[in-house]
Amino acid sequence: MSNNLSITSENGIRLITINRPDKLNALNRATLSELDAAIDDAASASEIYGIAITGAGEKAFVAGADISEFAGIGADEGKKLSAFGQNIFKKIERCSKPVIAAVNGFALGGGCELAMACHLRIASENAKFGQPEVKLGLIPGYGGTQRLVHLVGKTKAIELLMTADAINAQQALQYGLVNYITTQAELIPKCKELLQKIHLHSPYAISAIIRCIDACFTDGVDGYKTEVEEFGKCFAGKDVVEGTKAFIEKRKPVFNNL
Ligand code: COA
Repeated sequence: MSNNLSITSENGIRLITINRPDKLNALNRATLSELDAAIDDAASASEIYGIAITGAGEKAFVAGADISEFAGIGADEGKKLSAFGQNIFKKIERCSKPVIAAVNGFALGGGCELAMACHLRIASENAKFGQPEVKLGLIPGYGGTQRLVHLVGKTKAIELLMTADAINAQQALQYGLVNYITTQAELIPKCKELLQKIHLHSPYAISAIIRCIDACFTDGVDGYKTEVEEFGKCFAGKDVVEGTKAFIEKRKPVFNNL
């Protein structure tokens, strides 16, 4: 059961809403555990083909890890908390179904990290992104020092991490941190539109793309080798038969989708 999330499904799309608006949807441990379970559930639900994650209200996506839970934490506990959050965000990044962050306001600290763990990010016009941890005597612990570099490059990432400056949606678009900007009202419809567009294609190929991109950013893994393997495996499935047949027959492919 989720106390801190609201979860709905419509036409194959699972919408997970972080639902602590009075705390700007800050991620306490309970919320992280619920998110972990919600991702597992969406990943295994055969009727679901895509996932969107957003925050309740119009002010915040997620304003960070819950700072009130930091009091009295020692080094070992801090490491455990970081590993706990990182594992959940890695699970999102490695989810075989596309996951979109619908960033409807503040995406600070763990909120920015959560958005970055998703495959795509759409920001509302009022969205603000930042990693303000240094203000608290901390650094990002849920993958932020790594994914921000991957997404915006070292030059901007090191500036944002050191200055703690927040950036607006336009800057996020300019830096390559988000894919699109919409109004608040259009945010979820835009997510659905993107997920539906992806869903026209082979679900197997989409999951293979996710694995290849992940390989690109995984230490010790040769992404080109992963691509060779994944390319080969596509030929073992039915989707390539349907996709290539449909092309020859000048019709739209019908994959074994929902
Ligand atoms: N952890 C815990 N509680 C948080 C929180 C966080 N990361 N971010 C916001 N909240 C809580 C506030 O404590 C406040 O709770 P209260 O009403 O019980 O006092 C409530 O959410 C509303 O926040 P408030 O600060 O009053 O809103 P604001 O509009 O004045 O400011 C922010 C918005 C986002 C600028 C400000 O809340 C903020 O700086 N949050 C922390 C961001 C951060 O450092 N994140 C990284 C954490 S590692």
